[in-house]
Amino acid sequence: MSVQSAQEYYPHGFQNSSATLVEDGAAAAVATVSPGIDVKARFTDDELAVHLDKLRKQHPEFSILPHQPAHAVISQQMTQHIARINAETCLPGEENSFFVGDLGEIDNLHRNWKKHLPRVQPFYAVKCNPNPVVLTRLASMGVNFDCASKLEIETILGLGVAPERIIYANPCKMASFIRYASDKRVLKSTFDNVEELHKIKKFHPDSQLFLRIATDDSTAQCRLSTKYGADLENVCELVATCKELQLNLCGVSFHVGSGANDFSTLYKATRDARWVFDLVQNEFHMQPLTVLDVGGGFQLESFAEAAHVLNMALDEFFPADSSNNVSIIAEPGRYFVASAFTLGANVIAKRKVSPRESMIYINDGVYGNMNCILFDHQEPTPRTLHHAGAFHYFDDESTSATHSSSQQHKVSIWGPTCDGLDCITKEYYMKHDLVVGDWLFFQNLGAYTSSAATAFNGFDQQATIIFIDENGKVLK
Ligand SMILES: Cc1ncc(COP(=O)(O)O)c(C=O)c1O
Repeated sequence: MSVQSAQEYYPHGFQNSSATLVEDGAAAAVATVSPGIDVKARFTDDELAVHLDKLRKQHPEFSILPHQPAHAVISQQMTQHIARINAETCLPGEENSFFVGDLGEIDNLHRNWKKHLPRVQPFYAVKCNPNPVVLTRLASMGVNFDCASKLEIETILGLGVAPERIIYANPCKMASFIRYASDKRVLKSTFDNVEELHKIKKFHPDSQLFLRIATDDSTAQCRLSTKYGADLENVCELVATCKELQLNLCGVSFHVGSGANDFSTLYKATRDARWVFDLVQNEFHMQPLTVLDVGGGFQLESFAEAAHVLNMALDEFFPADSSNNVSIIAEPGRYFVASAFTLGANVIAKRKVSPRESMIYINDGVYGNMNCILFDHQEPTPRTLHHAGAFHYFDDESTSATHSSSQQHKVSIWGPTCDGLDCITKEYYMKHDLVVGDWLFFQNLGAYTSSAATAFNGFDQQATIIFIDENGKVLK
């Protein structure tokens, strides 16, 4: 293919940078390519920003949370659990922090997913919360899995899930793990560099490959495209290598960043993916791609809006009509588990700084189940569970981020390790003057929490999890 014809095909898309185009499997020719931008699109980037702003105003329901956590049962379970603990006599660790996991909430979230994104098959990102009860529940609902390592693949296969329901979504894999995936017939995997393709050719040549493209994730809570994803300038070289090595390129994947809030990136990434689909078929004359993987980055708080924008982009670039044989998958993590877990933690020590100010030490922190503060930029909200013989689960005003007449006790809250970094919040305001032996609770702590907890400094953070099902029954 000549530079000339490439420019004709994408009149504004090909300029100024280098990439490799292959002429029907023959020697590579270097073209100048600045790709992607000019797939025929309904919106320019500026128009898109205005449109999304308008959408948000037109759809107040975007901000309505669809979940209904089983508060009555969660509160009852927390109450019963801590009532069994006598801090004066208990064995070491019996007063450890613990979770209540609400499986009914995961059901609700799945129903909500299917309602808003009926075309998109979720592959849950195991890294987010690999608890076997959660994985089993998701598998039974027909959710598939995104695994990033041998152990994650092994765990999912161990649940009896078929290998076709797994995508090995790590673009930079160890050779031994690729061989393991090959042995287990896990075929779907992602890549974003030429070296990976040579490894895959050697160890797993019948892989079904997804080319991961970079996105603009600069506004996401956790950026991923700084580490993974091919820039569009490099896509031609990657496609050419797939062709040369006779690998099975079957789709495109992207991830707009975890905790994404600017959904114009979903639209733009879908548009870029369309460009790759067209390029593969029309310029490289390879088999048409058949799967688009829209990654993760969804969260409950903004799910309706993200789904709306994604559907708009899919309708435009991958319409669900008979001419378009593309299936759509996603790799949601946080969305499926964050709101399903509530953590209870015990006040183990207190230092009074002034009559209305204290340092409170609890038995979980940033090296334990609240590592999300460091790694995931979360800000867990402390609430009072138990103080001076009374339970306060339903008191929304037991704590506040700001000083007020009913929350006058200023605290900083610290984890149990000896590291000064182990701080949960530097400043919060409590209704009660907490004492040693009281309990706090933290909602929405299901994502990127227990999965990365460590035993640093000798604090075992394998917290007990009390699971409740959709009928409010405790799982034995
Ligand atoms: C490749 C990949 N897919 C999916 C996810 C899940 O993202 P999220 O939890 O934001 O949905 C991640 C998170 O890091 C990821 O790296």
